[in-house]
Amino acid sequence: MTKWKLNSWRDKPVKHIPNYNDKEQLNNILKELSSFPPLVFAGETRSLLKNLADVSQGKAFLLQGGDCAESFAEFHPNNIRDFFKIILQMSLVLTVSSNLPVIKVGRIAGQFSKPRSSPTEIKNNIELPSYLGDNINGSEFTNESRKLDPNRLLKAYSQSASTLNLLRAFSQGGFADLNKVHLWNMSFINVNAKNKFKEIEDKVSDSLAFMEACGITSETNRRLRTVNFYTSHEALLLPVEEVMTRIDSTTGEYHNTSAHFLWIGDRTRQLEGGHVEYCKGIKNPIGIKCGPTSDPKEIIKLTEILNPDNDAGKITLIARLGHDKVKSKLPKLIKEIKKAGRNIIWSCDPMHGNTIKSSTGFKTRPFDNILKEVKEFFDVHQAEGTFGGGLHIEMTGQNVTECTGGAQNITDKDLSSRYHTHCDPRLNANQAIELAFLISEEIKKNSHFSKNKIKFAS
Ligand code: PEP
Ligand code: CO
Repeated sequence: MTKWKLNSWRDKPVKHIPNYNDKEQLNNILKELSSFPPLVFAGETRSLLKNLADVSQGKAFLLQGGDCAESFAEFHPNNIRDFFKIILQMSLVLTVSSNLPVIKVGRIAGQFSKPRSSPTEIKNNIELPSYLGDNINGSEFTNESRKLDPNRLLKAYSQSASTLNLLRAFSQGGFADLNKVHLWNMSFINVNAKNKFKEIEDKVSDSLAFMEACGITSETNRRLRTVNFYTSHEALLLPVEEVMTRIDSTTGEYHNTSAHFLWIGDRTRQLEGGHVEYCKGIKNPIGIKCGPTSDPKEIIKLTEILNPDNDAGKITLIARLGHDKVKSKLPKLIKEIKKAGRNIIWSCDPMHGNTIKSSTGFKTRPFDNILKEVKEFFDVHQAEGTFGGGLHIEMTGQNVTECTGGAQNITDKDLSSRYHTHCDPRLNANQAIELAFLISEEIKKNSHFSKNKIKFAS
């Protein structure tokens, strides 16, 4: 076996990494990036690993969500604020009804590059290179826009840095204070979700009043006024991941400093491939997307390569099987992982196996199928004596019309009205909150959590 090096992935076959024409320009920009400050710090990543170790034991729940692909066009402080509000609201729903702390991880501040099913796209008999994410080329269907432009990497770094700066301010600067829960509301949330959320707000207010009477306030207790918020993206564009990987001076270990958590996509998880090779050497927690073609033996091998010491919290298996395949595929995967004694977190991505084309020509996801996948995921875990520890979703705080169904009853015809995604369709704010309520119920039903004496609020 050859020794891992920061660039040893370059000797392996890699998929979904674009071939830039101007290598010199690319290398100059990579060099520039390599001198830029880290976006996240090794100590924060270690805290996340500890939090994830709790998740792996059923003592916390992992909520991971955000855009399929961040874009330069949607970059706006209000969008970041609204995304953060929904994450806070979903977390509160989950915590209040299931009594589990929620570990919040955004697909944000670096989630740009995309693997595509085809290298080219054909429209009206014109064939152009596919859109690969705003840090690589543009989504507009023109020759100019689809050219690979390394300068975009600098813009993506800058957008990530300012996004993260605002998120840090929101999470630490008072916005996340539980006394401000009423400020997280959004005007377009439908009446049903609003009423249900109001009940949660009332419970929180009662608890805060009780604690205040005992002398515990958000002024005296930091935990009531701040939250920890972590970032993540797919470890896809390895040349950039490489230059953002730095040695932590306190331990001498390699950390990817462009996000706390990285995941390997369903299309790039080959045992001998460059993506697995790169992730093998970094200390960050790693997610592995498991689609319907996942061979349990291969997934076990991956967990061994990426986590040879079998540390709790290091690996999250993100099942994205599709609502019609959970029952046939998940039990075997769970059984084999259990038999092999691998320490992992089971997270459910109910988005990527449920993408269809609407009758009006849009890529969409029916909300009912998303709910069905989540429900079956939890049911299978209950039947296998294991538990679902996380949710991985594509969502936005905006009132978009990208996934059909939900309480607003979005139809195929409605999709064109506010369809803004640059890649896959996202849950809108209403749908995301509805999903959080459903998951709370599923968590409460699972005997693992009740066996562990986690007391549920009524
Ligand atoms: C994604 O998460 O956006 C993605 C491309 O997922 P997957 O690798 O599961 O297809
Ligand atoms: Co996606």
